[in-house]
Amino acid sequence: MNLDDLLEQRRSVRRFKPDPIPRGDIERLLQAAISAPSASNKQPWRWLVVSSATRIGELASAVREATATIQAAIPKESQQAFAAYGEYFTRFEHAPCVVVPICRGHAVLSQLVDDRLPEPLRRAVEHMERHSAVASTSLGLMNLLLKATDMGLGASAMTGPLVAESELKQLLGVPDSWSIVALVALGRPDEAPKATSRKALQHVVRFID
Ligand SMILES: Cc1cc2nc3c(=O)[nH]c(=O)nc-3n(C[C@H](O)[C@H](O)[C@H](O)COP(=O)(O)O)c2cc1C
Repeated sequence: MNLDDLLEQRRSVRRFKPDPIPRGDIERLLQAAISAPSASNKQPWRWLVVSSATRIGELASAVREATATIQAAIPKESQQAFAAYGEYFTRFEHAPCVVVPICRGHAVLSQLVDDRLPEPLRRAVEHMERHSAVASTSLGLMNLLLKATDMGLGASAMTGPLVAESELKQLLGVPDSWSIVALVALGRPDEAPKATSRKALQHVVRFID
């Protein structure tokens, strides 16, 4: 598929056939993911592949529990709207495979500077290092989504589940120093979602002199 077709045809797929994804296909997807550019070519990512229905169920239960706790802390009149939104946090639940990109910021520069650096600039350096890892891993994630489309697979990136990030990290054995970037539901599509709308170019682009 050419790039324009890929960009147009990629959709967030949230309903999947139960068939498992062959290991070779998952490896092709991840090969595409790790070919992404990354800040200083640090490749600050790891890619966890969860194919056990039991484990995926545990992840979904943790997210559902956090979502219920959040809902209980919302004013009554907004609870219904949140419930509908929160439903989308567990849409990975019936996927035969969930890929979990995690990342860790490299602390090369922030470890090098000494206390002559003003505090605001130190915080900016630390933010840059953390953010670079998330941005790099997100580019890998986009490669994965496009490759899945090209292979006729369905996928959706989800950050809603991060309301339970610490529980998810525990269930997946992710060390404290790493962050989960998203959960990616993956499988053979069992729906063909319609194209979603986009804001007009002139609304979101500003040319600056
Ligand atoms: C960073 C990110 C987080 C997302 N989180 C969720 C999520 O938690 N649950 C979900 O069902 N979809 C999630 N989505 C999918 C979006 O809802 C979807 O991309 C958007 O509605 C546009 O639809 P399309 O991907 O089919 O073009 C997420 C997408 C992105 C890029």
